[in-house]
Amino acid sequence: MEAFHGLFYISGEFREKYVVVDRGVIKEVKSELSGMNVTRIKGHVLPGGVDMHVHFRDPGETEKEDFHSGSLSAMFGGTTTVCDMPNNRTPITDSTTFNSKLHSVAKRSYVDFGLYQAASSETVPEAIGQKIFLGKSTGGLLTDLNTSKWEDKVKVVHAEFQECIDNNKRENSDLLSHDMNRPLECEMQAIEHIFKYDLSRTHIAHLTSVRSLEFAKSLGFTTEVTPHHLLLNNALSLGSLGKVNPPLRKKGVQEELLKSLNSKSIDVIASDHAPHTLLEKEIFGDAPSGIPGVETRVPLILAANRKGVISLEKSVSALMEKPAQICAINKGFIAEGYDADFISVDLKNTSEIKGEELHSKCGWTPFEKFGGIFPDYVYLRGEMILQEGDVLSSSSGEFLNGKKQ
Ligand code: DOR
Ligand code: ZN
Repeated sequence: MEAFHGLFYISGEFREKYVVVDRGVIKEVKSELSGMNVTRIKGHVLPGGVDMHVHFRDPGETEKEDFHSGSLSAMFGGTTTVCDMPNNRTPITDSTTFNSKLHSVAKRSYVDFGLYQAASSETVPEAIGQKIFLGKSTGGLLTDLNTSKWEDKVKVVHAEFQECIDNNKRENSDLLSHDMNRPLECEMQAIEHIFKYDLSRTHIAHLTSVRSLEFAKSLGFTTEVTPHHLLLNNALSLGSLGKVNPPLRKKGVQEELLKSLNSKSIDVIASDHAPHTLLEKEIFGDAPSGIPGVETRVPLILAANRKGVISLEKSVSALMEKPAQICAINKGFIAEGYDADFISVDLKNTSEIKGEELHSKCGWTPFEKFGGIFPDYVYLRGEMILQEGDVLSSSSGEFLNGKKQ
């Protein structure tokens, strides 16, 4: 048993508390404590970030990212849990492909991790959830909803309707035309379509507008937005670095989404971390879609909180609490019974994001020069794994088995 003393974020505010941890799990939160060795944690202590939507490319495309680099990047950005998507080079659709992926990544993660399966005619009990592709994106997966088998787990929906994408095909040479190739209408149609299947625990990923967000919420789904759809738009001169599915929208649509950050319609802010190499991104038309963001997700939102764009309560809810609840994992709260994952931040210290200082293999970010509040200390299940930029523990991340749900 060990105890930590600090200014912890508990039930909506920072409180001076002692947190007693037993084998990585919070046993007690107390106002006074005696007779135990206590470690003081400096700064404001938040629960570790939970990013329920990343693409770490491992196995299959480890030149872009692998679990080592992806999870290192997560840790530096204050994220202690990631859930990784199944659109690997060999898609993760059954137990054979799932177990081979797990075997490949098992000892290589700095942070705790769950793995999704792509919905198919076979369910994988160990998967953290099932991914549904209603339109093709990187990897070309398309889910057959009529033959897929379902489990009582989160079903994360890539909501772009393929028929609509096919009907809008045109030249794709810049961010504006990419948006026209996959317009908001395709997002709306996908949401409408999945509703007909009446599945449990349906979660609509990377919503790009208030219109689609409110529509998804009105149908009873949980919702997700990304920092890139909140902060970037297709009028910026990002070229193919801003090419992503679903696309960045017009400035007005983006600004409206950003203004709605505190609203009840948003459950989760996930990164959709999808690294591609700069070489692949050279020619717009040929460039694969995807934006890296696992390291900048928490820092960007904490910086937005400092600027008054989002409340602290909503930030913690969308970055930590809700994704943990939706994935049914013991994370996201500093409270009895939860894993002792903490990040310590100086909420007054916004620094400039620089792509070359980030830890993803891809080496770039569309958020160059944006402000971010990065953690000084990161704890995973009671163990300090990052101390003022020094990595203290390698690969202590554990697999979160979806079977336990
Ligand atoms: O832009 C995207 N990139 N959207 C996706 O759905 C997949 C992702 C990737 O894996 O590159
Ligand atoms: Zn994705």
